[in-house]
Amino acid sequence: TSAGDETQPKSYSDLVSTLPARRGWVSLVQYQNYWLNPGRLQHIIPIKELYKPRADDIIVATYLKCGTTWLKALAFAITTRHAFAADAGDGGHPLLTVHPQEAVPHLEVHTPGQGLANIEKLPSPRLLGTHLPLSLLPPAVVSTCRVVYLCRQPKDVFVSLWHFVKGMRGGRSPVEMDAALSMFCEGVSPFGPVWEHYLEYWKESLARPEQVLFMRYEEMVSDPVRAVKTLADFFAVPFTEEEERAGVPEEIVRLCSFETLSGMENNRTGDLDCGDNTVIGKSTFFRKGKVGDWENHMTKEMGKKVDDVFQDKLKGSGLVF
Ligand code: A3P
Repeated sequence: TSAGDETQPKSYSDLVSTLPARRGWVSLVQYQNYWLNPGRLQHIIPIKELYKPRADDIIVATYLKCGTTWLKALAFAITTRHAFAADAGDGGHPLLTVHPQEAVPHLEVHTPGQGLANIEKLPSPRLLGTHLPLSLLPPAVVSTCRVVYLCRQPKDVFVSLWHFVKGMRGGRSPVEMDAALSMFCEGVSPFGPVWEHYLEYWKESLARPEQVLFMRYEEMVSDPVRAVKTLADFFAVPFTEEEERAGVPEEIVRLCSFETLSGMENNRTGDLDCGDNTVIGKSTFFRKGKVGDWENHMTKEMGKKVDDVFQDKLKGSGLVF
């Protein structure tokens, strides 16, 4: 076995020094086919063994910049709607004061006092987020809990990621966009290759549709009410006729919309502790929230480069962008 196959290395820094590494856009090491932040390996690797999926866990899984914040907000609002009404006019809904990224804990993001041990102590039912590819999660995840996966048109993912990475570095990037795009198309992006990430979940969604729901950002944008109803059905908490008559799905869509969430004071100012000495401005998770923004940042040739790579890598899978 290669060094990257070990699950419990004595020292993560020793392990990191044995792995293929790439610098440039972002510094990454390759571990079991995926490019990962070397500083987070110590949290990522143990998840496969230490995270114990429960039958009533709901996992919100995404590649970066595919709409994690939005999906977390929606999943939270749907599953807690009997405790917190989305249309409560008294400011009582948690999403009015808690950033969606905080409302749903992320498996691989560990801050002081908030790690996997705490997640294991959470009462059921748990709502958990992750950017990990399926192959780095316990195999029991897809046979035990419900996983909702959100993907997005890759050109918009790249543009969103480009801005996000720059934003984390005070608006600067060590490389030009062209160079970052080349790495993205080689598969060298955080948690990349993106197509592998998509494909792992896509295949499981076909094999086990009752366990893995595969969604697209673009579909959620074009019909968010339908998306919310699909999610509620999948989570086994479908809207009753009475709820539908009362417009509950619409209220949830409104509460979790880009306009509402990005406009809230709590989401506009301050930072999120994302663990490992990384703080990210809360507003960084809200940029434009549009489909097709890539056209404003990339040339047609750059767009074609992404299209060609994804067409080739996804060939025969049935997953098309
Ligand atoms: P853009 O950079 O294209 O605007 P993630 O949450 O996975 O990090 O993804 C961030 C992307 O989702 C950003 O895309 C962000 O603006 C968009 N987004 C955040 N909240 C949203 C919402 N409520 N509705 C739609 N898009 C949202």
